Amino acid sequence: MNFQWYPGHMTKAKRQMQEDIKLIDLVIELVDARIPLSSRNPDIDDLGKNKARLILLNKSDLSDERKNEAWASYFKAKGFYVVKLDARRRNSMKEIQNVILEACKEKIERDRRVRAMVVGIPNVGKSTFINTFAGKACAKTGNKPGVTKGKQWIRLNKDVELLDTPGILWPKFDDQMVGLRLALIGSIKDEILNIDELSLELISYLKENYAGTLAARYEVEETVERPVELLEAIAQKRGCVQRGNEIDYSKAAALVIDDFRSGRLGRITLELPEAN
Ligand code: G4P
Repeated sequence: MNFQWYPGHMTKAKRQMQEDIKLIDLVIELVDARIPLSSRNPDIDDLGKNKARLILLNKSDLSDERKNEAWASYFKAKGFYVVKLDARRRNSMKEIQNVILEACKEKIERDRRVRAMVVGIPNVGKSTFINTFAGKACAKTGNKPGVTKGKQWIRLNKDVELLDTPGILWPKFDDQMVGLRLALIGSIKDEILNIDELSLELISYLKENYAGTLAARYEVEETVERPVELLEAIAQKRGCVQRGNEIDYSKAAALVIDDFRSGRLGRITLELPEAN
């Protein structure tokens, strides 16, 4: 689901979050494991201060396993509990249950009650996670900002309850690199982006950090100097030509980006903890 944020949305979302967060003990924050920092809104650190904090590195099936480990260490060093996740599958749910019990041990001993909420930017997998974790169809899929009926709690076990509506955070668009990475994973409307430029950024990143990936997928030489020459080679290999036998760069660009987003280029992380 693509999205756009306006100042009105942000103010409303923040106010809602400030209200909801008062009710809870644990913030379960989903980030996209391919861009763990660019898919966060740092305001959550302020909003969630004094709460237990769990970061779920979601879509970790699409990201580089070695980088997943590096990111898990990065966040653990900052005091977060961390679990890698594919929210569509149930196999990490027991681990998450255990981490919640650990993170909220004192509160459980004291009150026998812990309340948690799921937060994250749009499309990061919040609804999918709530559905899988709660094991029922009680969480609505998709974002429905503005729908604020009475609070519904989903009981996870005898001590832990989860707010059924996730908190929606906005990403940090003002940073150009953040915008680029969000665009690459498909979180910003494609119509407002230059798909050709986006693909050139991706090609250049892959050439540098995942050498051999493009060569293997498209049977092209990676030795060329400029990313546009690689795009051209991909276009030729894949028959992306328009009338008059001209190269159709946009078609090739869309192909590369689609292959990346769907994991056909392999498991790739676009942002590295060493750089942060
Ligand atoms: P949201 O509530 O945070 O907005 O996200 P939502 O659960 O709607 O998930 C967005 C898309 O991401 C969904 O794809 C969902 O299946 C996919 N998704 C969620 N978690 C994972 C994961 O761990 N791994 C992978 N590979 N995909 C995940 P969709 O319904 O097909 O939507 P779209 O792809 O058309 O946007």
